[in-house]
Amino acid sequence: MTVERLPRLALRDGRSIPAVGYGLFQVPSEDAQRLIEQALEAGYRHIDGAAAYGNEGAVGKALAACGIDRDEIFVTTKLWNADQGYDSALRAFDRSRELLGLDEIDLYLIHFPAPERGLFTETWTAFERLHEEGGARSIGVSNFIEPYLQELLASANEAPAVHQIEVHPTYQQRSLQELSRAHGMVIEAYSPLGRSADLTAPAVVEAAEQHGRTPAQVIVRWHVQHGIVPLPKSVNPERIVGNLAVDDFVLTEDQMRAIDALEAGNRTGEDIPHFN
Ligand code: A2P
Repeated sequence: MTVERLPRLALRDGRSIPAVGYGLFQVPSEDAQRLIEQALEAGYRHIDGAAAYGNEGAVGKALAACGIDRDEIFVTTKLWNADQGYDSALRAFDRSRELLGLDEIDLYLIHFPAPERGLFTETWTAFERLHEEGGARSIGVSNFIEPYLQELLASANEAPAVHQIEVHPTYQQRSLQELSRAHGMVIEAYSPLGRSADLTAPAVVEAAEQHGRTPAQVIVRWHVQHGIVPLPKSVNPERIVGNLAVDDFVLTEDQMRAIDALEAGNRTGEDIPHFN
């Protein structure tokens, strides 16, 4: 069995996060419980879900069935746009807790800024309360491109511990990463493989051949060496195992630079300002 042998990353709130997570975006809900159990069996100890993915119930069932100590598994979920606002965020958090079967969630994220709703600063105040009360062990945001992140930070009492954004070799958002890091956030990467499109990039394939690894392992390793927490997803049992097995090789500086140079503005996810 592969286990998560990479060191955890420290969070600004005193907690820590496993270096790689299993992402649940677009994992079909009917398959989710089985796949999460496979991921846990493969050694993942970090599950990245969201209310909007419709699989919190499956996460709860997998956690209950897996026989692994609850505190060994880092569980993230996210607040959906329609639930933004102070009271509605608190209510949505309770619904998520119920579906997950957990009193405390390791990381609770605002899924999107949804700027036209005008509610993310108020929502963040609710998140600060959830953190203070301990229901959310850590709190953070997702998809907060610069103007929204600045606005949130201007009114926040506590900065987010984590910023989850789209990052992969052909879409790196480096200035947003830098701004987030300057405020003490750990970066998590969703669509870390570029939804598989980046697996065929020559610099990736070449490094994979040189190390005798898969292109996916090379990209996961590239994230890890940048101090980013990637959340690769796969519905294929062999790939689920392989994507985690990146603790026993190191990309050279040249290989890192060649992959860094793949930046091409290839966003695969939502157009944030217009996603409400
Ligand atoms: P599959 O589920 O069939 O393995 P991302 O995490 O960037 O969103 O990418 C997910 C996509 O990458 C999925 O289409 C997934 O397909 C594919 N994928 C994940 N791991 C691998 C791998 N090790 N080799 C090839 N494709 C992969």
